Amino acid sequence: MNSIYSTGDHGDVAALYDRLAPKYDKLHRRWLKHAGGEAQAALEASVRAIVTPDKNLLDAGSGTGAFARALISEGMSPACVTLLDPSEAMLARCADIPALKVNGRLESLPFADGQFDIVTCAWALETVARPEVALGELCRVVRPGCTLCITFCANMSARTAADWLMRQSIIWRGRGRFLSREHVVRMPERSGKFEVRSVPSLGPAATLIARRIA
Ligand SMILES: C[S@@+](CC[C@H](N)C(=O)[O-])C[C@H]1O[C@@H](n2cnc3c(N)ncnc32)[C@H](O)[C@@H]1O
Repeated sequence: MNSIYSTGDHGDVAALYDRLAPKYDKLHRRWLKHAGGEAQAALEASVRAIVTPDKNLLDAGSGTGAFARALISEGMSPACVTLLDPSEAMLARCADIPALKVNGRLESLPFADGQFDIVTCAWALETVARPEVALGELCRVVRPGCTLCITFCANMSARTAADWLMRQSIIWRGRGRFLSREHVVRMPERSGKFEVRSVPSLGPAATLIARRIA
C-alpha cells in the first residue's frame, strides 16, 4: 500500500522521549499554542461529548498523561483509564494518575479485540515506525459501537511562518512525521468497520473521529 506518511525518516523514538520527558510539557505547550491547538481542542471536545464516568478509555501514546489527568479531575473513574507508552520516563510523569499504566507500543497493543469504549491517540501515530500497523491495532481494540479519536501532525499546508518552523523542527529533530490525512482516514474506512469523520482544524494537524460500526 501507499505510505501514510509524507516526510521524514524515523527510528525508535522511545529513547528520545525518555530524554525529552522532563521538558516535554513545556515543549508540547509551545506546539499546541503555535500549531496543533485546534486539532487538540477538537479531540478533547469529541471525547468529552461521549465520555461517561464508567466508560473504559485507552490513551495510547499517553506521554505525560495531561488529557487523562483532566478527564479524571472532571469525574472519570481512574479505574476505567489505561495509559500506554513505551517510554518509562514519560510514564513516570504520570505517577500521580491512579490509572493502569502499561509499557507498550501502538504496533502491538497488549489488549483484547474490542476491549475499550474510547481509544485516544494524540500526537503519537506520527512518531511510530509503522503507522499503518499502529492504526490497525488502534482499530482492533475499539469495541463495536464505540469510538477512536486520533490527533496527529498532518500534511496540511502551513498557515503561518510559525507553523512552518514548528513543522521543520519536528522533522529535523526526528520527533515525528507529517502523515497524509487522506491515507489515515482511508485505512479504517476500508475495513468496512468504521465511519470516519475528519474534524476541520487549522494548522499542520488533523483530528479523526472513527466510530466502529461492526
Ligand atoms: C508527542 S508525544 C504525545 C504524548 C501525549 N499523547 C500528548 O498528547 O501530550 C508522543 C508519545 O508517543 C510515545 N511513543 C513513541 N513511540 C511509540 C510507540 N511505538 N507506541 C506508543 N507510543 C509511542 C512517546 O513515548 C511519547 O510519549
